Amino acid sequence: MNNLVHINNFSEKDIFESLLSQVEKLFDINEPIVSNLSNFTALINQSFDKINWVGFYFRKGDDLYLGPFQGKVACTKIHIGKGVCGKCAETLNTIIVEDVNKFPDHIFCDKNSKSEIVIPIISNERLFGVLDIDSYNYSSFNETDQFYFEKIIAILTHKLKDRKSTRLNSSHTDISRMPSSA
Ligand code: SME
Repeated sequence: MNNLVHINNFSEKDIFESLLSQVEKLFDINEPIVSNLSNFTALINQSFDKINWVGFYFRKGDDLYLGPFQGKVACTKIHIGKGVCGKCAETLNTIIVEDVNKFPDHIFCDKNSKSEIVIPIISNERLFGVLDIDSYNYSSFNETDQFYFEKIIAILTHKLKDRKSTRLNSSHTDISRMPSSA
């Protein structure tokens, strides 16, 4: 009982601080990227009640392709520049959308989603992809989420760079190589 009370009293900042070390430990550079990133999405999803969808879109050419995710079925392909993900990929900046109905060009994968944060993943000065996180509540994401999710992505990017195989490293900017590199 005491434990439950303790867990429920965790602030979002506490959860994020705990996530930083969990991500560091969870990612095994000797295992396939897709396995690591799949578990990563599960970790994020199970850490926050406010999240209804979390997943990666990876860049290939002028498009983003769906990667590991948790949540409902989503768009397989998003053109860079389109939707929140595409805009994030184009500008290379994190985008927070408090009300998706007010974002011009927003792409609805789940009609119940109300707010969203999308963080770019940049490796060796090239766009690798984006991390997209959605919520069923309005205004679920703020500067604290941006600060910590950017930090978490920085850990992931660092881990990707640490991978020993040059063949795996070459997949940073070309997702089509990922299955064969795994
Ligand atoms: N809403 C996103 C599309 C991806 S889904 O929400 C999973 C967008 O506008 O880019």
